[in-house]
Amino acid sequence: MNIIEIKGISKFFGVGENRTQILKEIDLEIKKGDFIAIIGQSGSGKSTLMNIIGCLDTATSGSYQIDNQEVSHLNRDQLSDLRQKKFGFIFQRYNLLSTLSAVENVALPAIYAGADQKTRLERAALLLEKLGLGDKLDNKPSQLSGGQQQRVSIARALMNGGDIILADEPTGALDSKSGETVMEILRQLHAEGHTIILVTHDKNVAQFANRIIEIKDGRIIQDQRKSDLIAEKSPSPTVNKNAFSFYKDQFMESFRMSVKAIIAHKMRSLLTMLGIIIGITSVVSVVALGTGSQQKILANINSMGTNTMDVYNGTGFGDRNAEKMQNLNIADTQMLAKQSYIESVTPNSGVSGTLTYSNATFTAQVRGVGEQYFNVKGLSLLQGSFFDATQVKSNENVAVIDENTLKQVFGEKNPLGQILMLNKKPLKVIGVATARNNMGNISSSLNIYIPYTTAMNKISGNQKIDSITVKIKDDVNSTVAEKDLTNLLTIRHGKKDFFVMNTDSIKQTIQATTNTMKLLISSIALISLVVGGIGVMNIMLVSVTERTKEIGVRMAIGARQSNILQQFLIEAVLICLIGGLTGIFLSLMLGVLFNWLATDFTMIFSTFSIVAAVLCSTLIGVIFGYMPARNASQLNPINALARE
Ligand SMILES: Nc1ncnc2c1ncn2[C@@H]1O[C@H](COP(=O)(O)OP(=O)(O)OP(=O)(O)O)[C@@H](O)[C@H]1O
Ligand SMILES: [Mg+2]
Repeated sequence: MNIIEIKGISKFFGVGENRTQILKEIDLEIKKGDFIAIIGQSGSGKSTLMNIIGCLDTATSGSYQIDNQEVSHLNRDQLSDLRQKKFGFIFQRYNLLSTLSAVENVALPAIYAGADQKTRLERAALLLEKLGLGDKLDNKPSQLSGGQQQRVSIARALMNGGDIILADEPTGALDSKSGETVMEILRQLHAEGHTIILVTHDKNVAQFANRIIEIKDGRIIQDQRKSDLIAEKSPSPTVNKNAFSFYKDQFMESFRMSVKAIIAHKMRSLLTMLGIIIGITSVVSVVALGTGSQQKILANINSMGTNTMDVYNGTGFGDRNAEKMQNLNIADTQMLAKQSYIESVTPNSGVSGTLTYSNATFTAQVRGVGEQYFNVKGLSLLQGSFFDATQVKSNENVAVIDENTLKQVFGEKNPLGQILMLNKKPLKVIGVATARNNMGNISSSLNIYIPYTTAMNKISGNQKIDSITVKIKDDVNSTVAEKDLTNLLTIRHGKKDFFVMNTDSIKQTIQATTNTMKLLISSIALISLVVGGIGVMNIMLVSVTERTKEIGVRMAIGARQSNILQQFLIEAVLICLIGGLTGIFLSLMLGVLFNWLATDFTMIFSTFSIVAAVLCSTLIGVIFGYMPARNASQLNPINALARE
């Protein structure tokens, strides 16, 4: 039975004027179980024919059938499958993968065939033992002699069955003793039913074969059969395939190879990752800083009292004339108090002057306010009482002091009923409130509150109001309230000579501003990520070039294009992912350090930004790794193998 039938095969190399015909109309039939030696001068086309037989290359014209199946029109993946099922290659220079041990090298073809790991390693060990290498299973190729390496490569050729064994100068690099051992093994394999096709220069080596074919200038000039010994039995069975482990093992193999490649070039990988690390660290840190400061500011604003608005003289903050203006007045306050959406209103009238208590002078903020001030600002009472509407109306000389004043001025003494002097006017202390400044923050300054009527009529003598603070009812939209209040006051004053500070709208502005800042800085950091990605692409291209031979070997033993693509893509993604995770780790460390050193606000990391960073680095790996990986997978196996 013919296992191989070749009819009128020609092969051309080169284009245009350089186009030369290397194989000329070759006809060849090879029986199953035959042992053939192809001999001929250097350059006669032996290897070219061998590569076509082994489906590593395709003929320019002619018909080629294996087991009666036409193969000259198969696509690359179908050729890969065919190589993996039918052929075992033995190369002159062994072509073992230097990073894998002997047993892993032998087991490699079975990964692409889809055998599970246990089966693979057991069979590989068995084959190596059979070839006398039972004690060298874990040796790397560099730890083996040439003859031993060639035996490992024979074992690899047998891994998936190796119905047809193609050996191009298998003894070419060996001393005569090792060469004899290899030939003895090939003869043994022939006896077991393998079809063997051998290319050699050496007449002695050719003598092992049953049939010697001589090629000259691309033609068969002699075809001599010495013996008819054909082993018609089938060689050992091929591995059986398990669909799940097929994909899992191929993925794991690609993953392992990627890790090995990254570890093999530690420094290079680290430098490549650097761009990604810097990019991710800065994006994650900036977002955390932004979130932290934003929350701090918002917390400050919230402590100013929710649903409150302050109305000031002037056109806005920084209006220098505001100090002298008296646009706001008590009538405004009374008018606002009548609005249905307003819960409470208080004027604010600052008073300056000398404060004394028992002949000691001290400095404090004295503010003339309405009775609703304490409610509006959310101050709570610690001792005594706040003043009420009647006391305000009757200009009573009463004062509410805060905790700080209590501590500094009265110490342990009971302050209630004590008399403070402000500009030589007496004020009776009736209550103690929590210590908060005008913005609502806990503060260390001394604050004293007196009825605004007392402040205006008895102490400062003018009707000046610095601001009006309004508390809006809970169910009212603050923007609507602000608009209405502004309209009312504008109509009353005839023009807009005041401005409103609405905590809600400030909050929104701050949120919007910090978000814009975060976006801005993040997009700058994003550029660093893109630069990092280009670095990754560059290194991957180098890696593909360096490992072209390896890619060729993998393709020869049955790797599909997708396997090669996957391997390099995983490597790129892995570099980016490790870079990304390092970046996240660094920014977390940075956060710990920052939060430990800074008291003002903390860096706040969100799960979202971390997940986004991981996704982002993976994406960069895929985007920038795809091109090099595709280049690798599209290499022609012959050209790849020829690369040194
Ligand atoms: N990819 C290629 N492009 C162009 N020419 C090629 C290519 N591969 C081989 N050739 C040419 O084809 C001819 C036959 O090459 P081949 O490798 O088949 O020779 P060979 O018989 O195996 O020789 P040797 O015994 O030295 O290995 C040579 O002249 C070579 O220059
Ligand atoms: Mg050759």
